Amino acid sequence: MVIVHQCWVLTVLIFGIIYPTSCTAYFGLTLSKRLPLDRLTADCKGMRLTNKQRKMCYRDSGMADTLINAIRLSTMECTSQFKNERWNCSITHEHHRLNLLKTALKETSFIYAVSSAGLTHAIAQSCSSGELDRCSCDANSFDMDINKEAWKWGGCGDNLKYSVNFVKEFLKAQKGGEKRYQDYRAKVDSHNTVLGTRVVRKRMQKICKCHGVSGSCTTQTCWRQLSPFHEIGRDLKNKYENAMRVAMDNTANAIDQSLRVRRRERRPPPPVADNNDMVFMDHSPDFCRRGQYSYGTGGRICNKSSNCDSICCGRGYNIRNNIKITACNCRFNWCCDVICSKCTEREEVYSCKS
Ligand SMILES: *[C@@H]1O[C@H](CO)[C@@H](O)[C@H](O)[C@H]1NC(C)=O
Ligand SMILES: *[C@@H]1O[C@H](CO)[C@@H](O)[C@H](O)[C@H]1NC(C)=O
Repeated sequence: MVIVHQCWVLTVLIFGIIYPTSCTAYFGLTLSKRLPLDRLTADCKGMRLTNKQRKMCYRDSGMADTLINAIRLSTMECTSQFKNERWNCSITHEHHRLNLLKTALKETSFIYAVSSAGLTHAIAQSCSSGELDRCSCDANSFDMDINKEAWKWGGCGDNLKYSVNFVKEFLKAQKGGEKRYQDYRAKVDSHNTVLGTRVVRKRMQKICKCHGVSGSCTTQTCWRQLSPFHEIGRDLKNKYENAMRVAMDNTANAIDQSLRVRRRERRPPPPVADNNDMVFMDHSPDFCRRGQYSYGTGGRICNKSSNCDSICCGRGYNIRNNIKITACNCRFNWCCDVICSKCTEREEVYSCKS
Protein backbone atom coordinates (compact mmCIF):
# COMPACT_ATOMS: atom_id res chain seq x y z
CA MET A 1 0.00 0.00 0.00
CA VAL A 2 1.64 3.18 -1.10
CA ILE A 3 0.60 6.48 0.25
CA VAL A 4 1.92 9.53 -1.39
CA HIS A 5 2.31 12.32 1.03
CA GLN A 6 2.38 15.58 -0.79
CA CYS A 7 -0.91 17.34 -0.55
CA TRP A 8 -1.02 18.19 -4.19
CA VAL A 9 -0.64 14.66 -5.52
CA LEU A 10 -3.92 13.54 -6.93
CA THR A 11 -4.39 9.91 -6.16
CA VAL A 12 -3.81 8.12 -2.92
CA LEU A 13 -4.57 4.58 -1.94
CA ILE A 14 -5.51 3.82 1.65
CA PHE A 15 -6.98 0.45 2.58
CA GLY A 16 -8.18 0.04 -0.95
CA ILE A 17 -9.72 3.45 -1.32
CA ILE A 18 -8.74 5.73 -4.13
CA TYR A 19 -8.77 9.26 -2.89
CA PRO A 20 -9.38 11.71 -5.70
CA THR A 21 -7.33 14.30 -3.87
CA SER A 22 -5.23 13.68 -0.85
CA CYS A 23 -5.70 17.05 0.75
CA THR A 24 -8.28 19.76 0.79
CA ALA A 25 -8.33 23.47 0.69
CA TYR A 26 -10.66 24.80 3.28
CA PHE A 27 -13.72 26.92 2.91
CA GLY A 28 -16.42 28.30 5.15
CA LEU A 29 -17.11 26.09 8.12
CA THR A 30 -13.90 24.14 7.71
CA LEU A 31 -11.65 27.18 7.64
CA SER A 32 -9.42 27.53 10.68
CA LYS A 33 -9.72 31.27 10.78
CA ARG A 34 -12.39 33.25 12.47
CA LEU A 35 -15.45 33.64 10.32
CA PRO A 36 -17.90 36.37 11.17
CA LEU A 37 -20.81 33.97 10.59
CA ASP A 38 -23.40 36.50 11.64
CA ARG A 39 -21.90 39.21 9.46
CA LEU A 40 -20.86 37.31 6.37
CA THR A 41 -21.28 39.49 3.35
CA ALA A 42 -21.54 38.28 -0.15
CA ASP A 43 -18.39 39.64 -1.67
CA CYS A 44 -15.41 37.67 -2.81
CA LYS A 45 -13.01 39.92 -0.92
CA GLY A 46 -14.49 39.60 2.54
CA MET A 47 -15.02 35.88 2.59
CA ARG A 48 -11.60 34.62 3.61
CA LEU A 49 -10.84 32.69 0.45
CA THR A 50 -7.51 31.42 -0.81
CA ASN A 51 -6.10 33.26 -3.82
CA LYS A 52 -7.29 30.60 -6.18
CA GLN A 53 -10.74 30.45 -4.59
CA ARG A 54 -11.00 34.21 -4.81
CA LYS A 55 -10.16 34.09 -8.50
CA MET A 56 -12.84 31.47 -9.03
CA CYS A 57 -15.26 33.62 -7.08
CA TYR A 58 -14.54 36.73 -9.16
CA ARG A 59 -14.99 34.86 -12.44
CA ASP A 60 -18.73 34.71 -11.93
CA SER A 61 -20.83 37.61 -10.72
CA GLY A 62 -23.28 35.30 -8.97
CA MET A 63 -20.68 33.24 -7.16
CA ALA A 64 -20.32 35.28 -3.97
CA ASP A 65 -24.03 34.94 -3.22
CA THR A 66 -23.89 31.25 -3.96
CA LEU A 67 -20.93 30.71 -1.64
CA ILE A 68 -22.67 32.53 1.20
CA ASN A 69 -25.72 30.48 0.49
CA ALA A 70 -23.67 27.31 0.74
CA ILE A 71 -22.34 28.26 4.17
CA ARG A 72 -25.84 29.14 5.33
CA LEU A 73 -27.27 25.89 4.01
CA SER A 74 -24.64 23.75 5.72
CA THR A 75 -24.93 25.62 9.01
CA MET A 76 -28.70 25.40 9.13
CA GLU A 77 -28.73 21.74 8.25
CA CYS A 78 -26.14 20.87 10.87
CA THR A 79 -28.08 22.77 13.52
CA SER A 80 -31.30 21.08 12.51
CA GLN A 81 -29.90 17.54 12.39
CA PHE A 82 -28.34 17.91 15.82
CA LYS A 83 -30.97 19.91 17.66
CA ASN A 84 -31.92 16.87 19.74
CA GLU A 85 -28.40 15.75 20.49
CA ARG A 86 -26.02 16.60 23.31
CA TRP A 87 -23.72 18.27 20.84
CA ASN A 88 -26.19 20.58 19.15
CA CYS A 89 -23.88 21.74 16.39
CA SER A 90 -22.86 24.92 18.13
CA ILE A 91 -20.57 25.85 15.26
CA THR A 92 -21.87 29.37 15.15
CA HIS A 93 -19.80 29.78 18.30
CA GLU A 94 -16.46 30.32 16.69
CA HIS A 95 -14.33 28.97 19.52
CA HIS A 96 -16.30 25.71 19.49
CA ARG A 97 -15.96 25.35 15.74
CA LEU A 98 -12.25 26.16 15.76
CA ASN A 99 -11.59 23.70 18.58
CA LEU A 100 -13.44 20.98 16.69
CA LEU A 101 -11.28 21.56 13.66
CA LYS A 102 -8.17 21.00 15.76
CA THR A 103 -9.25 17.43 16.40
CA ALA A 104 -10.78 14.73 14.21
CA LEU A 105 -13.93 13.79 16.09
CA LYS A 106 -17.02 12.34 14.45
CA GLU A 107 -18.51 15.80 14.80
CA THR A 108 -15.58 17.30 12.90
CA SER A 109 -16.17 14.78 10.12
CA PHE A 110 -19.80 15.80 9.89
CA ILE A 111 -18.79 19.44 9.50
CA TYR A 112 -16.51 18.57 6.59
CA ALA A 113 -19.11 16.46 4.86
CA VAL A 114 -22.00 18.86 5.34
CA SER A 115 -19.84 21.75 4.12
CA SER A 116 -18.91 20.17 0.82
CA ALA A 117 -22.44 18.82 0.40
CA GLY A 118 -23.82 22.32 0.95
CA LEU A 119 -21.38 23.80 -1.53
CA THR A 120 -22.15 21.16 -4.16
CA HIS A 121 -25.88 21.58 -3.69
CA ALA A 122 -25.83 25.39 -3.72
CA ILE A 123 -23.80 25.59 -6.92
CA ALA A 124 -25.84 23.00 -8.83
CA GLN A 125 -28.98 24.84 -7.88
CA SER A 126 -27.62 28.27 -8.74
CA CYS A 127 -26.73 26.96 -12.20
CA SER A 128 -30.23 25.78 -12.99
CA SER A 129 -31.93 28.78 -11.49
CA GLY A 130 -29.86 31.11 -13.66
CA GLU A 131 -27.97 32.83 -10.87
CA LEU A 132 -24.55 32.00 -12.26
CA ASP A 133 -23.15 33.24 -15.58
CA ARG A 134 -20.87 30.35 -16.36
CA CYS A 135 -23.33 27.50 -16.09
CA SER A 136 -26.98 26.83 -16.67
CA CYS A 137 -29.17 23.74 -16.85
CA ASP A 138 -27.71 20.28 -16.84
CA ALA A 139 -26.42 19.85 -20.40
CA ASN A 140 -26.84 16.09 -20.28
CA SER A 141 -30.53 16.69 -20.20
CA PHE A 142 -30.37 17.88 -23.77
CA ASP A 143 -27.93 15.74 -25.65
CA MET A 144 -29.19 12.37 -24.53
CA ASP A 145 -31.84 11.49 -27.01
CA ILE A 146 -33.64 8.36 -26.00
CA ASN A 147 -36.50 8.32 -28.45
CA LYS A 148 -37.08 4.62 -28.21
CA GLU A 149 -38.51 5.05 -24.81
CA ALA A 150 -41.56 7.03 -23.96
CA TRP A 151 -39.50 9.71 -22.32
CA LYS A 152 -36.61 11.94 -23.14
CA TRP A 153 -34.33 14.29 -21.30
CA GLY A 154 -35.50 17.88 -21.26
CA GLY A 155 -36.51 20.51 -18.77
CA CYS A 156 -33.87 22.24 -16.73
CA GLY A 157 -31.96 19.75 -14.67
CA ASP A 158 -29.81 20.81 -11.75
CA ASN A 159 -26.26 21.01 -13.01
CA LEU A 160 -24.41 18.56 -10.80
CA LYS A 161 -21.67 18.03 -13.33
CA TYR A 162 -20.59 21.66 -13.31
CA SER A 163 -20.95 21.82 -9.58
CA VAL A 164 -18.88 18.72 -8.83
CA ASN A 165 -16.07 19.93 -11.07
CA PHE A 166 -16.19 23.37 -9.52
CA VAL A 167 -16.09 22.01 -5.97
CA LYS A 168 -13.24 19.66 -6.81
CA GLU A 169 -11.21 22.57 -8.12
CA PHE A 170 -12.32 24.97 -5.40
CA LEU A 171 -11.37 22.62 -2.59
CA LYS A 172 -8.21 21.32 -4.14
CA ALA A 173 -5.24 22.09 -1.97
CA GLN A 174 -2.56 24.27 -3.44
CA LYS A 175 1.12 23.98 -3.04
CA GLY A 176 1.98 26.19 -0.13
CA GLY A 177 -1.64 26.45 0.87
CA GLU A 178 -2.90 26.13 4.40
CA LYS A 179 -1.01 23.24 5.94
CA ARG A 180 -3.04 21.48 8.52
CA TYR A 181 -1.93 18.69 10.79
CA GLN A 182 -0.27 15.50 9.73
CA ASP A 183 -0.88 13.99 6.34
CA TYR A 184 -3.13 11.22 7.53
CA ARG A 185 -5.37 13.77 9.13
CA ALA A 186 -5.56 15.60 5.84
CA LYS A 187 -6.70 12.39 4.20
CA VAL A 188 -9.49 11.98 6.70
CA ASP A 189 -10.63 15.53 5.92
CA SER A 190 -10.45 14.85 2.25
CA HIS A 191 -12.37 11.60 2.55
CA ASN A 192 -15.24 13.30 4.39
CA THR A 193 -15.21 16.20 1.97
CA VAL A 194 -15.57 13.85 -1.00
CA LEU A 195 -18.28 11.97 0.91
CA GLY A 196 -20.42 15.12 1.13
CA THR A 197 -20.40 15.50 -2.63
CA ARG A 198 -21.11 11.79 -3.14
CA VAL A 199 -24.21 11.94 -1.01
CA VAL A 200 -25.57 14.84 -3.04
CA ARG A 201 -24.95 12.86 -6.21
CA LYS A 202 -26.54 9.69 -4.86
CA ARG A 203 -29.66 11.62 -3.98
CA MET A 204 -30.27 13.06 -7.45
CA GLN A 205 -33.76 12.19 -8.60
CA LYS A 206 -35.31 11.82 -12.01
CA ILE A 207 -38.36 14.02 -12.30
CA CYS A 208 -40.75 13.56 -15.24
CA LYS A 209 -43.58 15.54 -16.69
CA CYS A 210 -46.29 14.08 -18.92
CA HIS A 211 -47.29 15.45 -22.31
CA GLY A 212 -50.07 14.43 -24.63
CA VAL A 213 -53.72 15.18 -25.18
CA SER A 214 -55.59 15.90 -21.98
CA GLY A 215 -53.42 14.13 -19.51
CA SER A 216 -52.63 11.07 -21.58
CA CYS A 217 -48.99 10.42 -20.90
CA THR A 218 -47.81 9.57 -24.43
CA THR A 219 -44.48 11.28 -24.02
CA GLN A 220 -42.61 12.42 -20.99
CA THR A 221 -39.86 14.92 -20.47
CA CYS A 222 -37.49 14.13 -17.66
CA TRP A 223 -34.72 15.95 -15.89
CA ARG A 224 -32.43 15.39 -12.96
CA GLN A 225 -33.19 17.28 -9.82
CA LEU A 226 -31.41 17.67 -6.52
CA SER A 227 -33.09 16.30 -3.44
CA PRO A 228 -34.02 18.85 -0.79
CA PHE A 229 -30.93 19.51 1.29
CA HIS A 230 -32.70 18.22 4.36
CA GLU A 231 -32.68 14.70 2.92
CA ILE A 232 -28.98 14.95 2.23
CA GLY A 233 -28.48 16.15 5.79
CA ARG A 234 -30.36 13.13 7.07
CA ASP A 235 -28.17 10.78 5.05
CA LEU A 236 -25.08 12.44 6.44
CA LYS A 237 -26.45 12.20 9.97
CA ASN A 238 -26.92 8.45 9.47
CA LYS A 239 -23.37 8.19 8.24
CA TYR A 240 -22.24 10.14 11.30
CA GLU A 241 -24.02 7.65 13.54
CA ASN A 242 -22.28 4.74 11.82
CA ALA A 243 -18.97 6.51 11.32
CA MET A 244 -15.84 4.40 11.45
CA ARG A 245 -12.74 5.16 13.39
CA VAL A 246 -9.49 5.08 11.50
CA ALA A 247 -6.20 5.08 13.30
CA MET A 248 -2.70 5.49 12.08
CA ASP A 249 -0.52 2.46 12.46
CA ASN A 250 2.32 3.75 14.60
CA THR A 251 4.71 1.03 13.60
CA ALA A 252 4.71 1.88 9.94
CA ASN A 253 7.22 4.32 8.61
CA ALA A 254 6.33 7.69 7.26
CA ILE A 255 6.08 6.67 3.63
CA ASP A 256 3.81 3.69 3.76
CA GLN A 257 1.76 4.19 6.81
CA SER A 258 -1.43 2.33 6.51
CA LEU A 259 -4.55 3.29 8.29
CA ARG A 260 -6.16 0.73 10.47
CA VAL A 261 -9.84 0.78 11.03
CA ARG A 262 -11.44 -0.18 14.27
CA ARG A 263 -15.08 -0.30 15.00
CA ARG A 264 -16.44 -0.58 18.53
CA GLU A 265 -15.83 -3.91 20.21
CA ARG A 266 -15.82 -6.01 17.09
CA ARG A 267 -12.25 -7.13 16.55
CA PRO A 268 -10.82 -9.30 13.80
CA PRO A 269 -11.14 -8.89 10.94
CA PRO A 270 -11.24 -5.13 11.17
CA PRO A 271 -13.95 -3.70 8.98
CA VAL A 272 -12.72 -1.65 6.11
CA ALA A 273 -14.04 1.81 5.55
CA ASP A 274 -15.13 2.47 2.04
CA ASN A 275 -16.01 5.56 0.08
CA ASN A 276 -19.49 5.64 1.55
CA ASP A 277 -18.40 5.68 5.17
CA MET A 278 -17.78 8.72 7.25
CA VAL A 279 -14.44 8.32 9.02
CA PHE A 280 -12.95 9.92 12.12
CA MET A 281 -9.87 9.52 14.30
CA ASP A 282 -10.51 10.76 17.84
CA HIS A 283 -13.12 9.66 20.33
CA SER A 284 -15.68 12.29 21.24
CA PRO A 285 -16.27 13.49 24.77
CA ASP A 286 -19.81 13.05 26.08
CA PHE A 287 -20.59 16.77 25.62
CA CYS A 288 -22.45 16.77 28.96
CA ARG A 289 -20.49 19.56 30.59
CA ARG A 290 -19.25 22.87 29.31
CA GLY A 291 -16.04 22.25 27.46
CA GLN A 292 -14.01 23.33 24.50
CA TYR A 293 -16.54 22.08 21.94
CA SER A 294 -19.88 22.98 23.52
CA TYR A 295 -21.57 24.73 26.41
CA GLY A 296 -22.73 21.40 27.81
CA THR A 297 -26.34 20.49 28.19
CA GLY A 298 -27.33 22.48 31.30
CA GLY A 299 -30.42 24.52 30.44
CA ARG A 300 -31.15 22.64 27.21
CA ILE A 301 -34.84 22.15 26.46
CA CYS A 302 -35.64 18.48 26.14
CA ASN A 303 -38.57 16.23 25.39
CA LYS A 304 -39.70 14.21 28.41
CA SER A 305 -41.07 11.32 26.41
CA SER A 306 -38.03 10.91 24.25
CA ASN A 307 -34.69 12.44 25.10
CA CYS A 308 -34.49 14.17 28.51
CA ASP A 309 -32.58 11.31 30.12
CA SER A 310 -29.90 11.19 27.49
CA ILE A 311 -29.59 14.92 26.79
CA CYS A 312 -29.49 15.81 30.49
CA CYS A 313 -26.87 13.11 31.10
CA GLY A 314 -28.83 11.74 34.05
CA ARG A 315 -28.69 15.03 35.98
CA GLY A 316 -32.45 15.39 35.80
CA TYR A 317 -34.52 18.27 34.52
CA ASN A 318 -36.57 21.23 35.69
CA ILE A 319 -40.21 21.56 34.74
CA ARG A 320 -41.63 24.96 33.95
CA ASN A 321 -45.28 25.63 33.29
CA ASN A 322 -45.84 27.93 30.40
CA ILE A 323 -49.12 29.47 29.48
CA LYS A 324 -49.44 29.68 25.76
CA ILE A 325 -52.00 32.02 24.24
CA THR A 326 -53.23 30.94 20.86
CA ALA A 327 -55.91 32.02 18.44
CA CYS A 328 -58.86 29.63 18.42
CA ASN A 329 -62.51 29.28 17.44
CA CYS A 330 -61.83 31.39 14.40
CA ARG A 331 -64.67 32.27 12.09
CA PHE A 332 -64.94 34.17 8.89
CA ASN A 333 -66.97 37.36 9.08
CA TRP A 334 -68.47 38.59 5.75
CA CYS A 335 -66.55 40.45 4.36
CA CYS A 336 -63.51 40.10 5.03
CA ASP A 337 -62.44 39.58 8.62
CA VAL A 338 -61.40 36.56 10.53
CA ILE A 339 -62.50 36.76 14.14
CA CYS A 340 -60.85 34.56 16.68
CA SER A 341 -60.99 34.07 20.40
CA LYS A 342 -57.97 33.76 22.59
CA CYS A 343 -57.42 30.41 24.18
CA THR A 344 -54.87 29.57 26.80
CA GLU A 345 -53.01 26.34 26.83
CA ARG A 346 -50.81 25.04 29.55
CA GLU A 347 -47.57 23.67 28.37
CA GLU A 348 -44.85 21.94 30.37
CA VAL A 349 -41.34 22.82 29.35
CA TYR A 350 -38.51 20.56 30.43
CA SER A 351 -34.96 21.78 30.70
CA CYS A 352 -31.85 20.01 31.85
CA LYS A 353 -30.42 20.77 35.27
CA SER A 354 -26.94 22.18 35.30
C1 LIG B 1 -27.06 24.70 21.82
O1 LIG B 1 -27.31 24.60 23.19
C2 LIG B 1 -26.87 25.71 23.97
C3 LIG B 1 -27.17 25.41 25.41
O2 LIG B 1 -26.36 24.36 25.85
C4 LIG B 1 -27.57 26.96 23.48
O3 LIG B 1 -27.08 28.08 24.20
C5 LIG B 1 -27.30 27.16 22.01
O4 LIG B 1 -28.01 28.26 21.52
C6 LIG B 1 -27.69 25.93 21.23
N1 LIG B 1 -27.22 26.10 19.87
C7 LIG B 1 -27.95 25.80 18.83
C8 LIG B 1 -27.32 26.03 17.51
O5 LIG B 1 -29.07 25.35 18.93
C1 LIG C 1 -41.63 14.49 22.05
O1 LIG C 1 -41.32 13.20 21.56
C2 LIG C 1 -42.46 12.47 21.14
C3 LIG C 1 -42.02 11.05 20.83
O2 LIG C 1 -40.87 11.03 20.07
C4 LIG C 1 -43.12 13.19 19.97
O3 LIG C 1 -44.26 12.49 19.53
C5 LIG C 1 -43.51 14.60 20.41
O4 LIG C 1 -44.04 15.32 19.32
C6 LIG C 1 -42.32 15.34 20.98
N1 LIG C 1 -42.75 16.60 21.55
C7 LIG C 1 -42.20 17.76 21.26
C8 LIG C 1 -42.74 18.96 21.97
O5 LIG C 1 -41.30 17.86 20.46
